[in-house]
Amino acid sequence: MLIEIDGRRCIGCGRCVDDCVGANLRIEDGMAQVKGRCILCGHCVAVCPTEAVSIPSYDMGEVEPAAPLGAIDASTMLRVIKSRRSVRDYRAQAVEREKLDMILQAGRYTATAKNAQACRFVVVQGGLAELKNLVWDGIDGLLDLPAAEKPRWAKVYKPFSRNRLAEPPVDFLFRNAPAVVFVAAERADDAGLAAQNMELVAASLGLGMLYDGYLCRAADELPAVKAFLEAEEKPLQVCMLLGYPALSYPRTAPRLPGDFVVK
Ligand SMILES: Cc1cc2nc3c(=O)[nH]c(=O)nc-3n(C[C@H](O)[C@H](O)[C@H](O)COP(=O)(O)O)c2cc1C
Repeated sequence: MLIEIDGRRCIGCGRCVDDCVGANLRIEDGMAQVKGRCILCGHCVAVCPTEAVSIPSYDMGEVEPAAPLGAIDASTMLRVIKSRRSVRDYRAQAVEREKLDMILQAGRYTATAKNAQACRFVVVQGGLAELKNLVWDGIDGLLDLPAAEKPRWAKVYKPFSRNRLAEPPVDFLFRNAPAVVFVAAERADDAGLAAQNMELVAASLGLGMLYDGYLCRAADELPAVKAFLEAEEKPLQVCMLLGYPALSYPRTAPRLPGDFVVK
């Protein structure tokens, strides 16, 4: 059964019926009944006042009382969003496992189209040296090809490859971050939304991130890297460097005037 109703707890109030996006529930004999297929969004679990609904295939042990709307002060929230910066210099300090777990949970609990929940989140920290080798070997191998065989995308990476071996070395792809996070997904919007929530939780943990489009592109193009990341089945949509920032910004960064339409 996709959804289970506990007959001892259900009071037949119909809140789950009213809130069901798929019209998958009805009240019969004073109790909620499940009709058929649904997207397992979990609203029936969340809205039930008596904890009568469960979805056995989900981790029900993680369900907890919801934070009230307005739990985070809006001006603090907006200031945190304005204060978030792309971090391109990191302290030589590993990210604790508990913090990585919280960041992963932020991605996992983000909305997905049709509730697909099909993002794969890959964190590389212990295996970072191996990842770097695979990426740079892959890029350098392509750059060594005769001009006619060299993929167009790889040509852009030529100065990055040179600068990484210069003195002092500058690794434009990995910077000096202790960890890298990838999100693989069919839909770019699913991955992007998850990444943004992950970044905000990272910020609340004192961590910084960099959306790394160049590393994402290279990783997605290189089969050995995709295999290492165990992400061969879906495109890599987002890549983020992660770590403790080595610098702080005393002010927010300015932006263009907002391009808003409010009617
Ligand atoms: C999708 C995406 C890809 C990005 N790729 C890179 C990148 O490859 N390298 C880099 O240094 N910055 C990258 N950035 C960071 C942007 O340059 C940065 O967000 C912008 O300059 C504004 O700075 P802020 O994030 O501190 O507000 C990327 C940002 C986004 C959203």
